[in-house]
Amino acid sequence: MCGIVGYIGKRNALPIVIDGLRALEYRGYDSAGVALWDGAKIRFEKAAGRVSALESRLSRKSTLWNGKSAIAHTRWATHGKPSDRNAHPHADCQGGIFVVHNGIIENYAELREALIREGHSFLSETDTEVLAHLFERPFLSSGKIFLEDAVLEGLRHVDGTFGIAVISKHDPEKIVVARRGSPIILGVGDEEYLVASDASAIVGVTKNVVYLHDNEAAVLAPSQMQIFNLSKKAIQKSVDKIDWDISQAQKGGFDHFMQKEIFEGPSALENVFLGRLIDPPTGGGSAKLGGIVAVRDRLLRAKKIIISACGTSYYAGLVGKHYFEEFAKIPASVEYASEFRYSNPVIDSDTAAIFISQSGETADTLEALREAKKRGALALGIVNVVGSTIARESDAGVYNHAGPEIGVASTKAFVSQLGALALLALFLGRERGAVSDVLGQKLVRELKAMPAKMKRVLSGDAEIKKLAEKYLKYKNFLYLGRKYQFPVALEGALKLKEISYRHAEGYASGEMKHGPIALIDENFPTVALAPKDPVYEKILSNIQEIKARNGRVLAVATEGDAKIGKLADDVIFIPQTLEMLTPLLSVIPLQLFAYHTAVLLGLDVDKPRNLAKSVTVE
Ligand code: F6R
Repeated sequence: MCGIVGYIGKRNALPIVIDGLRALEYRGYDSAGVALWDGAKIRFEKAAGRVSALESRLSRKSTLWNGKSAIAHTRWATHGKPSDRNAHPHADCQGGIFVVHNGIIENYAELREALIREGHSFLSETDTEVLAHLFERPFLSSGKIFLEDAVLEGLRHVDGTFGIAVISKHDPEKIVVARRGSPIILGVGDEEYLVASDASAIVGVTKNVVYLHDNEAAVLAPSQMQIFNLSKKAIQKSVDKIDWDISQAQKGGFDHFMQKEIFEGPSALENVFLGRLIDPPTGGGSAKLGGIVAVRDRLLRAKKIIISACGTSYYAGLVGKHYFEEFAKIPASVEYASEFRYSNPVIDSDTAAIFISQSGETADTLEALREAKKRGALALGIVNVVGSTIARESDAGVYNHAGPEIGVASTKAFVSQLGALALLALFLGRERGAVSDVLGQKLVRELKAMPAKMKRVLSGDAEIKKLAEKYLKYKNFLYLGRKYQFPVALEGALKLKEISYRHAEGYASGEMKHGPIALIDENFPTVALAPKDPVYEKILSNIQEIKARNGRVLAVATEGDAKIGKLADDVIFIPQTLEMLTPLLSVIPLQLFAYHTAVLLGLDVDKPRNLAKSVTVE
């Protein structure tokens, strides 16, 4: 939610922060702004709309915009609608201090009232603007003061979350940065430093990064960086290296990031398996997970598993529940993170709690993790973004290594989350004696075969596009699946609604006759997930029930299934695999179907309306 970026060093800062904004635009895209110190004064510009709107305003004046430090912001509105006025950066009364902010200042209304009583005047409706005025206060009373001291003093009054970057004409040769609850990463270049909400805005300049933790702050100057806590006690931190390339965060010949990332599904799965599958010539197959070695005994003692996540990651968790129960024979349940944390969950040190998050920054998932840890549970993370807050705060975990996911709709991350869950279930199943040698080997063999099978499904892209054209006239869809296919139905419906704005409901197919069947008529098609698995006959009956009510059916079925073609109006075929692995194949046509529908409707698939990639507010 919102992206911030800043640069200080020897180069002209403007093109660097604008590139950074473009990379961060997936985090929020309703307005953007920049402030730059040009050696004599701070120049600033803001614009409602995309980063391109800001760029076109800047292009008219770019010759004047030359300076070695700048901060910039791309917004996802929380307080105050998207407008030039509400766009960041926000300034104090005298235009001497400029702030960009990601997060929510929860007590902003009281602070704003108090500041107005003191004589401050506000220009925007945002919570962020109170920060600029809070940071102005010490300058008003004492005149000569360092910017970092003014910022730390101001932050003492703030409740809520922030990732901020601040510049000031009063103390200009620096950027002051602070974080609580919103991600901040620092880039360390050659006599240049950067700050950003995530690595995508930095990796074009440097791969050397420092992860700022909660309640930490930093001063970035052209030739040095100091890090301290919010009481200004110095902190030493190590410099890490980003293990991916700028090219991975670009479209690479595809029309959209979402399309590229759907096609990266097979390699995302290969990456999550890399070095982790044990396939001995004799004995049982298993999984080797370096990230959980330290908590192995505690994990094996766990009497139950609870999985918590949001959105697509939550649907991956629903598949994971079946994995753990079926293969590790351990009771497992799945909870929305936003519900879990307020549900007074009955968990203790005998519980292994698994938190799934692509970004590793989702506020609800992070708070659920903290709640689970407070109650004594073992907290494991299945996280894509290395060094993210959820990854750091988990006791142990499995990185999915899917590479950067830029499209707002999650696709390859889902596939790799299923891969990580399968590995964990296989490991637990073997260690707990629930998976035999023979079954272990069979699972490993089939896991290895999955990327190639996924590629086969992807090769049907043109057919799926034709189906998207055929179904374009429909405004409502029902997605049905049972057992392993129920989460896929939910995920398919989510994909369609979030990028094409078509209404779609995912349902457990057995529940259809308990209500949703009333919706069915010739204008309300059903996407039925019907691979050849133990519940296949049941879904066939559902399809028959729909056909009897004049409903159209688009089925996803297993290659060689002759029966289904006689029932469904259209069929997309996927290769045969083990039941547990069918979601890895059946989800792909649904991702492609949603993608093509949105493209055909002329919508911006990578930046759907009202959404942001990383939901760092509750
Ligand atoms: C849907 C989507 C969201 C995310 C959800 C959780 O396509 O992207 O539903 O899955 O916001 O995000 P992470 O996995 O980053 O915690």
